[in-house]
Amino acid sequence: MPTSKLVGIVLAGGKGTRMKSECPKALMPLLGLPLTAHVLMAMESAEIEPIIVVVGHGADAVRSALGDRYHYALQAEQLGTGHACMQAIPLLPPDAQTVVVSAGDSPLVTHEAFRALIEHHLCSQADATVATALLENPTGYGRIVRDANGRVVAIVEEKDATPEQKAIREVCTSFYCFKSHILREMLPKLTNRNAQGEYYLTDAIGLIAEAGGKVETWQSPDPALLMGVNNRWELAQAGQVLRMRILHELALNGVTIVDPAATYIDRTVIIGHDTIIEPNTYLKGNTQVGAHCVLGPDLVLQDSKVGDSCHLFRSHIVGTRIDSDVSVGPFAHLRPGTVLKRGVRVGDFVEIKNTEVGEETKVLHLTYLGDATVGKNTNIGAGTITCNYDGVRKHRTVIGDGVFVGSHATLIAPVTIHDRAYIAAGSPITDDVPPESLAIARSFQTIKQGWVRKRLESLKREAQEEVSNE
Ligand code: UD1
Ligand code: CA
Repeated sequence: MPTSKLVGIVLAGGKGTRMKSECPKALMPLLGLPLTAHVLMAMESAEIEPIIVVVGHGADAVRSALGDRYHYALQAEQLGTGHACMQAIPLLPPDAQTVVVSAGDSPLVTHEAFRALIEHHLCSQADATVATALLENPTGYGRIVRDANGRVVAIVEEKDATPEQKAIREVCTSFYCFKSHILREMLPKLTNRNAQGEYYLTDAIGLIAEAGGKVETWQSPDPALLMGVNNRWELAQAGQVLRMRILHELALNGVTIVDPAATYIDRTVIIGHDTIIEPNTYLKGNTQVGAHCVLGPDLVLQDSKVGDSCHLFRSHIVGTRIDSDVSVGPFAHLRPGTVLKRGVRVGDFVEIKNTEVGEETKVLHLTYLGDATVGKNTNIGAGTITCNYDGVRKHRTVIGDGVFVGSHATLIAPVTIHDRAYIAAGSPITDDVPPESLAIARSFQTIKQGWVRKRLESLKREAQEEVSNE
């Protein structure tokens, strides 16, 4: 393939009016990433570098979400795609030869599609190449208008199209390659004399053709690849395609997906080989899972790191670090700041937050651990509660190694239970417990021998007295 100094321009300044959202379109969440980040990933994998992102609506938020790997051009007013593209021109490196322009709202594009478009452009030595698609229903897209010899003469937007032009099924996908100097020359010539009163980038193609330049098309073999997302239904449809693509790739890399239709994994998630994903599992955000795990059924795992050979099911886990050989579930709620060390077992109706649990410790039933540190080989009995909040401040509970906390203990923080201590069941613990000692804090039981019989007898007596008094 011929080489040429490549530069990318991504148009992401639009408001996305059709989304009916307060969020700028570029940041609409899709499989764990902002919409436009998907386009940028494909561009980067296609080795298009540098990339200039045109921002406008919500510019600061878009810039900080997409990150400082890119250059940004500000489009202060949204006057159309041609106007947006023009804002990037001052940032083009002087030695740029080929400019790849892409809409920021086409998240299904792949690096292969970018490479194929660039290759066609360079091999045909075109001044401009438009990526097109042949659609069953072209409504909403710009139509490719050709002359009798099949040469592209213009792109006509839906709102400006005649009925005959509307019948054209070949559409502009908003992916282009331009010779850098041709783009610089043509953009200032755009006008906004059209139905929407906007400067259309599509008109640059017509101007190049009119000036006798060489306009080529590259038709995508899969039209869905270049689909634009303008409203939430299209966002949902693009999400479905992307979701299956992610699952497919994971499966080919050694992850078992039991039911793809019921598995939701963000593009940001990393999973090791021989891990099995059971149905109704949601893996979200910045999540990493090791090898040989079984996840699900019915699991939400978000922004968490999980080691190897863990079994996590029917639970809600956020912001948690889980080492290897850990089991969690059913019905556990692990909140941010939780760390479960190797071999920990967490069972049903357990809530843990901002707490580190040491190796091989068991927290199996009906427990709340908040702002605590728990050592290794400790047993936390059913119904244990750390009382970490005094209504104003949070306090820590420290539990050592090899501790036995009996059922229904109430640990009133700040409090420390030292190594190998025992807490008697039902004890409210307010003071530190020294190592290897038993703390028992409850009123002692009294036995009244024969009390039931005596009570019955006294009731019977009272009844007889009432009868004789009548
Ligand atoms: C555009 C094309 C249309 C094509 C379709 C493919 C034009 C005039 N039309 O239409 O031919 O079939 O994409 O998906 O180019 N943007 C800005 N600033 C603006 C306006 C838009 O940055 O002032 C950005 C948007 O954020 C978006 C992209 O440009 O990422 C495309 O804009 P959009 O309004 O979605 O254009 P379409 O109507 O889809
Ligand atoms: Ca669009």
